[in-house]
Amino acid sequence: MGTEKSIIMGSDHAAFELKEKIKGYLTDKGYSIEDAGTQSAASVNYVDYGKKVAGAVSNGQFSKGILLCGTGLGMSMVANRFSKVRAALCSDIFSAKMSRVHNDSNILVLGGRLVGDVLAFELVQTWLDTPFEGGRHLERIQAIDH
Ligand code: RB5
Repeated sequence: MGTEKSIIMGSDHAAFELKEKIKGYLTDKGYSIEDAGTQSAASVNYVDYGKKVAGAVSNGQFSKGILLCGTGLGMSMVANRFSKVRAALCSDIFSAKMSRVHNDSNILVLGGRLVGDVLAFELVQTWLDTPFEGGRHLERIQAIDH
């Protein structure tokens, strides 16, 4: 299992540039990033990259992942098919925070065509810094997989 400072990321072409920027931001903050691709702005199918990242979180190889596509919708749909994955598509800070506090989200999904770099960095930082509240919410998230 990856450490708390180790994160797997993936995107399609539509969010390749934002993935690279977030990767740089997190690397500068001391995070270790496993980049599941894509590695260029050439057109690809988001499903392939969503499966790689969600699979690695689902099997416990990584405790957290970040996925990006144009809207974030396709990546969320793919990721949430995987057991034990709770992927949260966020474009506002309150949702990024609450997805951790109440839902213990383990994949943050961003839309590269929706959020700018600065907001994306804030969303990522908020999401990483916010702990799960547990308590009554633990039972609720456990019920998702059972
Ligand atoms: C690619 O054009 C686009 O469909 C993809 O990035 C994503 O937004 C899908 O949900």
